[in-house]
Amino acid sequence: MGTHHRDDCAENGGDDNGHLAKRLRPASCPISAAEIAEEFAHHDPSVARINNGSFGSCPASVLAAQLRWQRLFLRQPDEFYFHRLQPALLHSRILVKELINAADLDEVSLVDNATTAAAIVLQHASWAFSEGGFRKGDAVVMLHYAYGAVKKSIHAYVARAGGHIIEVPLPFPVSSNEEIVLEFRKALELGKANGRRVRLAVIDHVTSMPSVVIPVKELTRICREEGVDQVFVDAAHAIGSVEVDVQDIGADFYTSNLHKWFFCPPSVAFLYTKKCSASSRLHHPVVSHEYGNGLPLESAWIGTRDYSAQLVVPSVMDFIGRFEGGIEGIRKRNHEKVVEMGKMLADAWGTFLGSPPEMCCSMIMVGLPGCLGILSEKDALKVRSLLRKEFKVEVPIHYQLPKDGEVVEKDGSSTVTGYVRISHQVYNMEGDYHKLRDAVHKLVNDGFNCTMFPS
Ligand SMILES: Cc1ncc(COP(=O)(O)O)c(C=O)c1O
Repeated sequence: MGTHHRDDCAENGGDDNGHLAKRLRPASCPISAAEIAEEFAHHDPSVARINNGSFGSCPASVLAAQLRWQRLFLRQPDEFYFHRLQPALLHSRILVKELINAADLDEVSLVDNATTAAAIVLQHASWAFSEGGFRKGDAVVMLHYAYGAVKKSIHAYVARAGGHIIEVPLPFPVSSNEEIVLEFRKALELGKANGRRVRLAVIDHVTSMPSVVIPVKELTRICREEGVDQVFVDAAHAIGSVEVDVQDIGADFYTSNLHKWFFCPPSVAFLYTKKCSASSRLHHPVVSHEYGNGLPLESAWIGTRDYSAQLVVPSVMDFIGRFEGGIEGIRKRNHEKVVEMGKMLADAWGTFLGSPPEMCCSMIMVGLPGCLGILSEKDALKVRSLLRKEFKVEVPIHYQLPKDGEVVEKDGSSTVTGYVRISHQVYNMEGDYHKLRDAVHKLVNDGFNCTMFPS
């Protein structure tokens, strides 16, 4: 990657004048396989990393840019604080605004992660309950498969303030958007029972576990029709793995991590807050000097800390610009490949995919052979550890409660209750998935069953 270590920007973390640094290679000459391998040479070569979804990945050229920013701060903190930091953060926000098609720069804040973004939105809901904007007993709707930490946040901020929480029970395996829409409509009806108002809907764009792409635009439209006050889309996985156009989706609040599928180092996310009366009352939970100056500015200084992850967005754009088709090209190829690998695994194991390909992004759920006997979340976690420790395969596993009426034998035989969530990112090779296929075959051939785990 030698040609990409640019001396001209060694002193400023990437670019000097607020413009995207010039690409070093013409777009007609896309990054080669060898260059991709070099960009991710810091990954442990002995491990099949097919779990980009959990923690993302960051190429060496972006890590180098991050280090330059950190050094620039440490070299002369005063100069950095007074002259460099805010213009550079603004530059990152401008790039994100373009990327997500926000109407106004004031609608885009950079925060640490989706968890922080959720806290910002839910803290606001909590104030609305305690200050009388929302009535005690008014409902907040969330998906049953909302991310665990976000669910806890909803309980901590909203239920405690008097909100009534309703979960939308999504079917899994799932075969169509209509199944999701149907359950969502039922949940809204329940929310509106007894004259209650539904004040907030928290909707995932891509659920984490099991991973399914949710028709957020349609659900947001339904919320508007049904008089739901606010819609918050938790799109932690979205940017870089599905198309994101916040104006088209139409939600009030929308967050996505940039460190999952967008090659930023941990940790940085954006929070889009549509211009409306509510958005002006949002505050960062960490209060500092900029309190009251609007969320983007509040978020741009939450005390002395390392802001470098937020500053490398231009370098990430450079990296992405080296791929044919940019981020759309990356997304498309990841999707095609993850579907191909998912089908290969399902065929090899005699199982099936958890959703049709059009309901998945760069991750897909694949059923595990029932004879492994995954009969609880604990079992799923233990098999995940086993695959990591014994077979050097990193992949998360989902335990799915059998559907009503489905009988599961003690040895789990035939019924699929465990699913792997496989990811595909630019650094993955087919061999990674073969390693998983063979590991599971070995477990099956050895007669492994979760009942063998010490209790
Ligand atoms: C749907 C969803 N929401 C929120 C999060 C939390 O992201 P973070 O840990 O970066 O805050 C995740 C993480 O995987 C997620 O999948």
